[in-house]
Parts: sequence; C-alpha cells; structure tokens
Amino acid sequence: MGRVLIAPSIISCDMLNLKREIAKIDKAGCDLIHIDIMDGHFVPNITFGPAVVEAIRSATKKPLDCHLMVKDPHLFVKDFIKAGADIVTIHVESDVHVLRTLEIIKGEGKKAGITLNPGTNISAVEEALQYADLLLVMTVNPGFGGQSFIPSMYDKIKRAKELTLMKNKDIFLEVDGGIKVSNAKRVVECGADILVMGTEIFKSKNYAEKIREVRKSVGQ
Ligand code: DX5
Ligand code: ZN
Repeated sequence: MGRVLIAPSIISCDMLNLKREIAKIDKAGCDLIHIDIMDGHFVPNITFGPAVVEAIRSATKKPLDCHLMVKDPHLFVKDFIKAGADIVTIHVESDVHVLRTLEIIKGEGKKAGITLNPGTNISAVEEALQYADLLLVMTVNPGFGGQSFIPSMYDKIKRAKELTLMKNKDIFLEVDGGIKVSNAKRVVECGADILVMGTEIFKSKNYAEKIREVRKSVGQ
C-alpha cells in the first residue's frame, strides 16, 4: 500500500472565511483539496462554480480535486480546468457520453476521474476506467457533507479495487463520504488510496492534528 492521500472537502469549511480556511488546510498538511461542485439538478444542493475554484487556485499550490455533481458535465469541464482544477471527476450517471468527456479532460492535460453513486453498480464504470486516472467511490448519497458512511460500501470499495486490478489499470481509488478516524483504516484496507474528508477535518479544533490522527490510524 502506497502513501494514503488526504483530500479535505471544503464544503464543510467556514465559507465566510474561505481564504483563511484554504491557508489553514494547506498548512495543515493535506495532499489535495476536494471541491464539491453541485448544480441543484444532479444533486439537491447548489455549491460553487469556476469563479470560486479560480479564487481557491490563487490561494494554494495544492492539487485541486474537483468533484462535479452536475448534469451534462461536458458543458463545464473546460471552465473548471481554466479556473485551475488539476483533477476533474464526473459522475457516470450524469453524462450520456462519459468517454468523450473524460477524453476532453485528458486532452486539456488534466487528470480525469470517474465516480458513481452508492446505488450504482460498479460495473457501470468498467468501460470508463480505460480513460480514467482516478475512480471515486461515493460512500454517501451525494449532495451534502456530514452524512453517515453507508456500511455496504466497504464491500463495494473492495470490488472497485478488484475491478481496477482486473483491468490492469494503475488508477487512484478515492473514497468520499462519511470518512472518519474511526473507519479510515478499514476503508484503506478495502483498497482506498485517497480519503476525502469534510466534516471530520473542518469541524475539528486543529486541522493538522486531525490529519496526523488520520494518517496514524492508517499506519502512516
Ligand atoms: C458529498 C460530497 C463529499 C462530502 C464529504 O456529496 O461529495 O465530498 O462533502 O463530506 P463528509 O466527509 O462530511 O461526508
Ligand atoms: Zn465530493
């Protein structure tokens, strides 16, 4: 198992002080910054667009990991790349032509991610894996931070890992939703390389300490 990467999800941060929060989380030793883009159609919530990503880009050098929970993401991926996204992840359920959209992302020289809702079978991303650099397994129903990890997703993470190995794809396996110090070790044992954590980090008193605690809990 390589080094487990920590990707704090800023949806749970103090939005009124976004610049300060980005500086704090950067200094706290995160590996990537996870930015949840929601359009109110694909998920019942609305967050931010390219302008906020551009602002965050100006405040940190950490890789920006943009999780697009939007309908027809092909309409927007280039805008988020222009704004500074390093990874753009789309939902297999949200785009009629996922392979084409993943190719657009890669054509722009960025990392392409594919993700799926908890209720979608892992086989739904099998074809997309050949074009993806990252597979994101959602372990809550997307739309909000602070939800509980869905226990049946442990097995799904394992099956996702098996699928990437079967496709002989050297691909990052990212897990997102309800990840805490208490379940991080088991999630990593199931095959996760990157842990997205919103509430667990941003509702803690000391971001650096919490990140250290997570790393320690997974034996790093
Ligand atoms: C949910 C988002 C997740 C979420 C993670 O739709 O994709 O990134 O914000 O937050 P926690 O860690 O609080 O579940
Ligand atoms: Zn997310």
